[in-house]
Amino acid sequence: MDNSQKYFKNIQSDFIGLDTLYTRVDGKKTKRIYLDSTASTLMMKAAYNGIESFYDHYANTHSLLHFSAKTATKNYRWAHERILSFIKADAEKYACFFTGSGTTAGINRMARVFRDFQPDRDVVLVSLMEHHSNDLPHRKHAGKVVHIPLDNHEGQPGCINMEILKEKLEQYKDRINYIAMTGVSNVTGIINPIYDIAELAHKYQALILVDGAQMAAHIPVQISGHSNPLRNIDAFVFSGHKTYVPGSPGVVICRKDILSSMEPEEVGGGMVDQVHVDRYTITDQFPDREEAGTPNIPGAIGLAAAIDVLDKIGMEFIYEDETSLITNALNQIKQIEHVIIYGETNCSLCPRAASISFNIRGLDHGLVAAILNDYHNIAVRNECFCAHPYVKEMIIEELFDTGIDLNEIDINSELKVKAGMVRASFGIYSTKEDVNALVSALKDIVAKRDEYVKLYSLDGTGLYHHKTFKPVEADLFNVESFINEYLQNL
Ligand SMILES: Cc1ncc(COP(=O)(O)O)c(C=O)c1O
Repeated sequence: MDNSQKYFKNIQSDFIGLDTLYTRVDGKKTKRIYLDSTASTLMMKAAYNGIESFYDHYANTHSLLHFSAKTATKNYRWAHERILSFIKADAEKYACFFTGSGTTAGINRMARVFRDFQPDRDVVLVSLMEHHSNDLPHRKHAGKVVHIPLDNHEGQPGCINMEILKEKLEQYKDRINYIAMTGVSNVTGIINPIYDIAELAHKYQALILVDGAQMAAHIPVQISGHSNPLRNIDAFVFSGHKTYVPGSPGVVICRKDILSSMEPEEVGGGMVDQVHVDRYTITDQFPDREEAGTPNIPGAIGLAAAIDVLDKIGMEFIYEDETSLITNALNQIKQIEHVIIYGETNCSLCPRAASISFNIRGLDHGLVAAILNDYHNIAVRNECFCAHPYVKEMIIEELFDTGIDLNEIDINSELKVKAGMVRASFGIYSTKEDVNALVSALKDIVAKRDEYVKLYSLDGTGLYHHKTFKPVEADLFNVESFINEYLQNL
């Protein structure tokens, strides 16, 4: 067994939360099957242990001379370097900095940075596949957003239309400041050809910002060092909480020359060389100049520890393993009668990572998610996953596919009923057994649909509740009770 296999085999089952038990409707207490990794991944134990040990030395990185401050500073610096090497970004040319609680903070920041870097360019091309966090920041900060629609060609549902992207580049030419594109859709899991898109953008002197929220933990990334430099990425943003370390910050990797060309967006302690009452000078050191204030030091170090583990397993290995898991899931789910899977299901035609979204014809996504939880202890997400335009578009496609005469129905009310999907999503700890459990649960729901419908009621907020079953209170963690018990035992 080589190291990749050895590490993978051991790490895969070493996550916090894989053994969490909940009581189902049938009264059995079973292990939760966690298929909601696209929202947030579980915590990698190795990274957790790393953070825990670091806490013995915890100190502020802005203190300089005591042992702990030196330790914190050294490890915090390592975290930046480790992330840059993980995504193959040349440390001479790229800076990594931590910001806010997730990808959203990083994208808002980069929208303002790119706006100020090329102020004469007022158009941003954004795909229709984007999470709202990679759409609204550009609308708010960067100018006119032009959406690139989906490709309706046979065999490509759910992918962006590359021909229209080229047309828009030609149409807006030197008005285009940048293209903002997700690496992987958080709805369908479809992987975008970001390096091809970078090449196209750069031919028009536009920049490219990649939303890496669903990419960093799932597929290998190469920011720089492409034999054709046009294929390099200008900025890449991702979240620690989707990369196996809940509580860690958002991460931005960006070309240093872009960041150096302007005063950083945020100012305060830690990023200045000198401050007088009438002026200040900003350090030219990265990442300091981009990280005003005391950062989330343990979160950043924990994230770098997780990434170090992923890299030592090998991202190619992780991607291949996940591809075979997803292919297996797609092949099984698509054979279940009445289940509609969104997006191209042939992974060799259209590669995917992390997520599969679907509906059971005639059953509300909220009801399916509730049954999966209550009867099968399977955790999934439902609704529109903060990607309303994409979900709406895919559902309209589906109405076309069913042969329904769209002139004969009230499209808005039909969309309202159907506005949403169920999403099963995977991480490095997801197994064939998890997929099999999902498949058999879906078959059960399809077979007993009428029975299940009668057992649930819908509240005013759109949530389904079982008419007789309530979650067992003792199963659910309560931090206040935990603290009370701790104090009582003192
Ligand atoms: C593709 C994508 N982009 C951006 C985000 C926003 O990330 P965060 O919640 O870390 O800000 C998400 C979250 O689900 C996402 O999936």
